[in-house]
Amino acid sequence: MNEQHTDRQVLRVGVIGIGWAGQQHIEAYRNIDGVEVVALAGMEAGLLAELQGRYGIRDCFAGWEELLELEDLDAVSVAVPTFLHAPIAVAALNRGLHVLSEKPIARNGTEGQQMVDAARRAGRVLDVAFNHRLRGDIQTLKRVIEAGDLGRPYYAKASWLRREGIPMLGSWFTSRDLAGGGPLADIGVHVLDYALHLLGEPKVLSVSASVHSELGPRGRGGNARYTAMDTSLAFDVEDFASAFIRLEGGGTLVLEAGWASYRETEDLMDFTVYGTDGGAELRSVGASNTPVGDLRVFTDKDGVNADYVPAASPGLAHQGVVDSFVGTIRAGAAVWGQHDGSLALTRARVIDACYRSAAEYREVVL
Ligand SMILES: NC(=O)c1ccc[n+]([C@@H]2O[C@H](COP(=O)([O-])OP(=O)(O)OC[C@H]3O[C@@H](n4cnc5c(N)ncnc54)[C@H](O)[C@@H]3O)[C@@H](O)[C@H]2O)c1
Repeated sequence: MNEQHTDRQVLRVGVIGIGWAGQQHIEAYRNIDGVEVVALAGMEAGLLAELQGRYGIRDCFAGWEELLELEDLDAVSVAVPTFLHAPIAVAALNRGLHVLSEKPIARNGTEGQQMVDAARRAGRVLDVAFNHRLRGDIQTLKRVIEAGDLGRPYYAKASWLRREGIPMLGSWFTSRDLAGGGPLADIGVHVLDYALHLLGEPKVLSVSASVHSELGPRGRGGNARYTAMDTSLAFDVEDFASAFIRLEGGGTLVLEAGWASYRETEDLMDFTVYGTDGGAELRSVGASNTPVGDLRVFTDKDGVNADYVPAASPGLAHQGVVDSFVGTIRAGAAVWGQHDGSLALTRARVIDACYRSAAEYREVVL
């Protein structure tokens, strides 16, 4: 890492991966004063050249290894297929760079632990992009819960369900070896993250999960927005998952994550929570990166109905993730240790336990 960045006040960043996720990172960095995206890496030569021209980016590479050779970088974003998160993040941290990795942290908890260990050894920031918790509707609900309007939450149910939403059927997304899992690891990790965040980070005690793979292997359920289906390629992840999660303090979280099933066409993201003094239901219909779901709070005051509908804005999503990453780097070494990826690692461990539970047809204690 270039030690000069605090003096020169310009943070030099490289973005590795130029698909949808990588492009969110590039755009977000460009909106922050004093941050310069100086390098990109990605294997799509045409797109790489286009992004370089559009944003005036100094260096472009086909492979991540070459990007990490640069001497003047301060930080990198890692927005590549999940099997590459750990090798790239560990190599970058070992070079003294701060790392913002896309979710999930890695294919499994073992790889996630390697990343956390590398961040701690290097004394650098490791953040993971959980943009959905920064949605305005989730943040509004967080404030409602923290204000005590629901009392003590004891039951929650969270889902992200699609009808035909398998991303790139026949690509890295649908290979267990490359992605680590199907919708549970891909979109379920967002839902798990914001559910635990909303509930105040209770420890997960045990999980009982099931996974199904019924449509994808038959070439059904692919998202037409993505590349054409190639059903000759392996589909060895689930296309639907559900989990019953026991929380410290007696709480329960029920999770559903599905890329494809015979249901309504529009994506559904919902979160229901019941507490000792109130409940809340958040329901967002329609695919969007920053949805504003219908949020209703059910409660009473002195025995009289006091239900209300809090207002929510779209929120910041990826911009918020990148703002926070840059803000943490700029806040200095005293706070870096609180950003070592360990929260994202807890999500990976829960997902590992879910896959184990599903494979062994039993409840798994964490
Ligand atoms: N936070 C979110 O909301 C969100 C949304 C979509 C994807 N993601 C995550 O972002 C990551 C990427 O997803 P995507 O949809 O952008 O995937 P993608 O397949 O569209 O893009 C992957 C990129 O990685 C590049 N790449 C692959 N191997 C490389 C190598 N050896 N060197 C350099 N670049 C390499 C590819 O060329 C491509 O540009 C995944 O981890 C995914 O889970 C997060």
